[in-house]
Amino acid sequence: MLEVKNLDVYHGWVQALRGVSFNVSKGEIVAIIGANGAGKSTLLGALAGLYRPQKGEILLKGKPVAGKPPEYMVRQGVSLAPERREIFNTLTVLDNLLLGAYHRYRAGKKEVIMDIEKTLELFPALKGREDHPAGTLSGGLQQMLAIGRGLMARPGLLLLDEPSTGLAPLVVREIMSTLANLKKTGVTIILVEQNTVAALKVAGRALVMERGQIVLSGSAKEIMGNPGVQQAYLGRTRMA
Ligand SMILES: Nc1ncnc2c1ncn2[C@@H]1O[C@H](COP(=O)(O)OP(=O)(O)OP(=O)(O)O)[C@@H](O)[C@H]1O
Ligand SMILES: [Mg+2]
Repeated sequence: MLEVKNLDVYHGWVQALRGVSFNVSKGEIVAIIGANGAGKSTLLGALAGLYRPQKGEILLKGKPVAGKPPEYMVRQGVSLAPERREIFNTLTVLDNLLLGAYHRYRAGKKEVIMDIEKTLELFPALKGREDHPAGTLSGGLQQMLAIGRGLMARPGLLLLDEPSTGLAPLVVREIMSTLANLKKTGVTIILVEQNTVAALKVAGRALVMERGQIVLSGSAKEIMGNPGVQQAYLGRTRMA
């Protein structure tokens, strides 16, 4: 469903992506791992329409979408839960979720209400907290809300940027098992993580990025067993 070909992205003079190419099939969970500054967030940002690539192609279900604006990408079913969560602290949980569906609220209020229910089924910990200001939630609940808001766009492709950051291991496990459940619904997920172990457990395939390039790709099992990966990433998984 997604083909990325030879993608170059610059932030000013800094080249953040260098000739990045990969494919993702429908219903896969693909993990992207790599050190700080490797270009992981830039790649997700380019897929979500936040950064315009200088070179290369992004094909979504065969359609060229590189350089299209974020609103367009949302309408194409691409939804990003960004690294810093970016939920609205003073708004309630419910309003944050509704914002994820803003582009189709007028079209189908009933559907949106149903989707709120589905999202709360997926994250039962948010239930009963619909009218709480999002800023008063724990880090784990805020992350669930950020993912839930992403899901409210009814995405075909969900992009998650480091959902485990700052969370206790138990909460990380809960979020990862939710992703496994989501996969069953047919959503395609690209999961950026510095928590390599957690990401490789839930993903089917993984890409390793270094300095703007994909230096290794394979099944999650292969990547997990790769000696270079073990030394560079598995020995010092970021402990939250
Ligand atoms: N807005 C920006 N302006 C200038 N340079 C940027 C900007 N955003 C990222 N960069 C640079 O681009 C490169 C890739 O950054 P990016 O945030 O994509 O990496 P990352 O793999 O997501 O890192 P992290 O694990 O720390 O989130 C880095 O060298 C970074 O300093
Ligand atoms: Mg990042």
